[in-house]
This record gives sequence, structure tokens and C-alpha cells, in this order.
Amino acid sequence: MPEPKQITLTIDGKSVTVAEGTTVLQACEKAGSPIPFYCYHPGLSIAGNCRICLVEIAGAPKLQIGCHTRVAEGMAVNTTSDKTLAGRRDVLEFLLINHPLDCPVCDQAGECWLQDYYMQHGLYDPKFNETKHKKPKAVPIGPTVMLDAERCILCSRCVRFTDEVTKTGEFGIFNRGDHSEIGVHPGKTLDNNYSGNVVDICPVGALTDRDFRFKCRVWYLGSAKSVCTGCSRGCNIEIHYNREREWRPHIANGERVMRLKPRYNADVNKWWMCDVGRYGYNYIDENRLTHVGVKDHGHVRQATWEEGVARIVERLTQLRGAKQLDRVGVVLSSHMTNEDLFAAKRFFTELGIAQIVFQRPKSGSSDDLLLQADRSPNTKGAQALGIPEGAGGLLEKVTKKQITALFVFSPDVTVPANLEFVVFVGANATPAADHADVVLPSAVCAEKEGTLTNFEGRVQRIHAALLPWAEARSELEIFNELAQRLGLKTRFVDAKTTFDELAKIEQSFQGLSYQAIGDQGAFLEQ
Ligand code: SF4
Ligand code: SF4
Ligand code: FES
Repeated sequence: MPEPKQITLTIDGKSVTVAEGTTVLQACEKAGSPIPFYCYHPGLSIAGNCRICLVEIAGAPKLQIGCHTRVAEGMAVNTTSDKTLAGRRDVLEFLLINHPLDCPVCDQAGECWLQDYYMQHGLYDPKFNETKHKKPKAVPIGPTVMLDAERCILCSRCVRFTDEVTKTGEFGIFNRGDHSEIGVHPGKTLDNNYSGNVVDICPVGALTDRDFRFKCRVWYLGSAKSVCTGCSRGCNIEIHYNREREWRPHIANGERVMRLKPRYNADVNKWWMCDVGRYGYNYIDENRLTHVGVKDHGHVRQATWEEGVARIVERLTQLRGAKQLDRVGVVLSSHMTNEDLFAAKRFFTELGIAQIVFQRPKSGSSDDLLLQADRSPNTKGAQALGIPEGAGGLLEKVTKKQITALFVFSPDVTVPANLEFVVFVGANATPAADHADVVLPSAVCAEKEGTLTNFEGRVQRIHAALLPWAEARSELEIFNELAQRLGLKTRFVDAKTTFDELAKIEQSFQGLSYQAIGDQGAFLEQ
């Protein structure tokens, strides 16, 4: 394709060159003179209906909207002239005529674009004394979203999202003039697998998330960059957690994770994430394994890390002495990070255990947008590390008594009853943990640094939003401790050092580093 023609214009006196077809709004961003916008969204068609993005263009008789006006050679744009600022102020006053004054009880407060722009571009002296129009408030329009029609500024982002992205067409704008109202079409509910995205793109508090609303004020939220673990797409996300939990333990009954939000990655998920991933985070704070367990007289009792590790070391030392390590099997999980899987492979191989596989969970449904059938985040990583898939073969050997001891890191395995020794390492309580001789509670991805490899082979960073739950430890820590106690040379200091080692040894990961991966991810060697 030929290179697009370049256009040079001035914005607030600064010269900027952009490709032909660029909008004034985009050029303003590039020039470092960003202008406000509501209805514009880079992932949707241009509606040009909110009028907040007004700018003054030399020679034009009236103010122009930046989101719909294309740049032209020699154009002179002013984003801060008195005329521009007065125009924006008038638009805000108009948008707020019928807007209820319920900021103190609105869940959007603190991240509302009406509040922000009122402070930046509004601050007018209101002239409206009449009674505001009343519209329906707090109407559930589907399982995930609540509508407050009074707060809507009719930007039509939600309409365009369901028309253009999900193509499910639930939303419409009904009635005329100042009786215009957002809503779902008669007989419809907002019940598609991407419904939560309309909350993200609604610039005001008209669409709020039923899972999140009134759980936590947004100014108490901390944020960590991570990757969704709901399927092998690996959507880039932010984990929003209650950073005031120590001082405000009553918030959301002490839960730590408040919500997940999509993080822009042009090549993975753009601005979106699906509801399976968005609302599937309860495992982080619920049903967690809190303590080490050891089995005595047929029952698992609470124990210390020292006791748990000592039992494993004792049994492995016996098996090593009796040259019976070929009777030990290991089932890893495609929920483990690349670093954890590499450490597992390294630790068990150095010890002399060769029967190592990984297990992925049962497949789910998929769609044409993002969701993948593989409901785990790192199948590709396990494959790239050369770990065979599927626990079936090992379990068959258990039946034939060729394997008598099993290390299970996957909750998706039914542990046979006839084993002599079972170690379960996992984050959540599962039946597999009930049958184990030693249970070690491990950290989830939201509590770890590391990387995951998505189905396309893109290696992506995850960052710890939280400390490990109760006494849980990361797998790296567990392998490090075991390696030390068993006198192995291998050490796993932290995720970064382990990744550097991995990138040196494993062919598919060669040339990669945390720096090269950055925020966008980097591909495995093909
Ligand atoms: S509900 Fe929100 S996104 Fe939809 S039109 Fe109203 S303000 Fe825009
Ligand atoms: S598509 Fe997959 S990775 Fe993305 S949000 Fe949904 S479950 Fe998570
Ligand atoms: S952002 Fe330009 S008209 Fe709405």
C-alpha cells in the first residue's frame, strides 16, 4: 500500500505533521493540545453529536467539532481561544440542563467525564431555574448493567458498541428533543458476552456495573497491569483492588479485588474484554486454600510450611535412595506462568523425575470476537517449554501401579485413590486437595510477577496486584525451598531472574526479556 500523504498544520501555534485523513481531534492529541470529547471513541464510528470537542479553525465561520473534521494542509487550529472555551462551556451547560445533581450518590463519581470536564471547561454560572425532566433511574437492563437514563448525555457510544462491535443491537435512543432517552429495545435485555464494555465506554454514570456499583469508591482503588486468565486470548487488563483494605475492611466484606477493566492492546483485545473474564475473578478471594495441610491417620490437618516441606523432602529422599524416582509423576497446569512451568520442569528434571505433563481445563465455548475455547492462559507457554499435554497416560500408569507418587498442580485432575503419596499444590480448595498427603497453598496470577503466553504465541507480563492470600506462596518460592532442602544446584530467586534463565535455555523464548516484552508483549520465536 502506498504511504499516506502527509499533511502539515498548526495547532495552537505548534506545527504538526500527520497522515491525510487524520481528524483534528487526533492531530490535537499528537500536538500535545488534547481537546475534550464524549461521543468520540477510537474503536467506534464517528457520531459527532455531543459537540464538546469544539475548536476554532482560522477562516471557518463557526466553531468546528474536532472529532469529525479532517486535517487540511496549512490549517490553523486554536484549541484555547476565548471563542472555543466559551463554546465548550455552553455545550456543557446544555448537557447538564437535565442532568440530576446526584454526584454524591452516583457510583461514577470520581471517574465521571461530566465532573472532570465541568471542572476543566465548565465552571459556568447556571441559568437554568426550571424543573429538570425526570427519567427512569436504577433500571437493571440485563444481568450485568444498571441504567440510569437521567444521567445519560445521549453520546450514543453504547448504541454504536452493540451495533458495530457485538452486532447484537440491544440499545436505542427513543423519543425526541429533550424527551430523548437511552434504553434497550422492547423485549430485549443486554445479555451478550461483552455487555460490561458499555459501562467502560459510558462517559457518565448512566450505565453502571451491577457487580461493582456501590462496592467501593473509585478513589480507594489501586491498579495493577495484568492479563486475564479466563482463556488463552490473554486480554490485557487492569486489576482494580481495594488499596484501603487495612483501614476500611468493611468494604465489600473484605474482598480484595473490586473489578477487572480492559487495558488497550491493539493486537490482542483492543479496548475490550469479555464478561467471562471480567466477572470470573471470584476465585482470587473465594474458596482459597489458606494453610499447608498434611495427612495424618487418613485426615488432612492444618500444618506449618516447615512440616509440609519436610514430608515432601523425606519422601523424595527415600524414593531417590531407593532409585524409584521413575515411579513419580508430575501434572502441571496451563494456569501456571512460564516461569513457574520452567522452574517445575527444571526442578523435577534435575531431581531425576522425567514423567512431567501439563493438564488444561475442560474447553468452553468460543466466539468471533475474543473468547477462546481454551479456558486457560498459558497452554502455549507449556507447549513452548516442551512439556507434553494430558494427564491420561500418567493416570493409566497409576492404575497399573507403575506410578505410586504424584505431584499435582492442576485442579482439573481426578486424583486416583491408590497412590502411596500425593502432593497437591494449588490456590483453591478442590477434591484433589482432599486426597493429598501434603497440600501446599499457592499464589494466583493476581499475586505474582511473571509472564503468560497467549494462543498466538505472544508472551505477556503480569504484575502482582496483591500479596499471596494467607499462607500461600508462589510456585517459584516452593521450588526454591525444595531445591535447597534436597541439595540441588538450581535456584529460583525471583520471576525476572528465572525468566532470564528460561530465555537462555529454552529455544522458543530466546531473545526475550522483561524489557523486550514491555506492556505490549512479544512473540515466541517461530
Ligand atoms: S448511556 Fe452512556 S454511553 Fe449510552 S448514550 Fe448515554 S451517556 Fe452515552
Ligand atoms: S476473551 Fe478470554 S482473556 Fe479476554 S477477557 Fe474474555 S476470558 Fe479473559
Ligand atoms: S466528541 Fe466530537 S462531537 Fe462528540
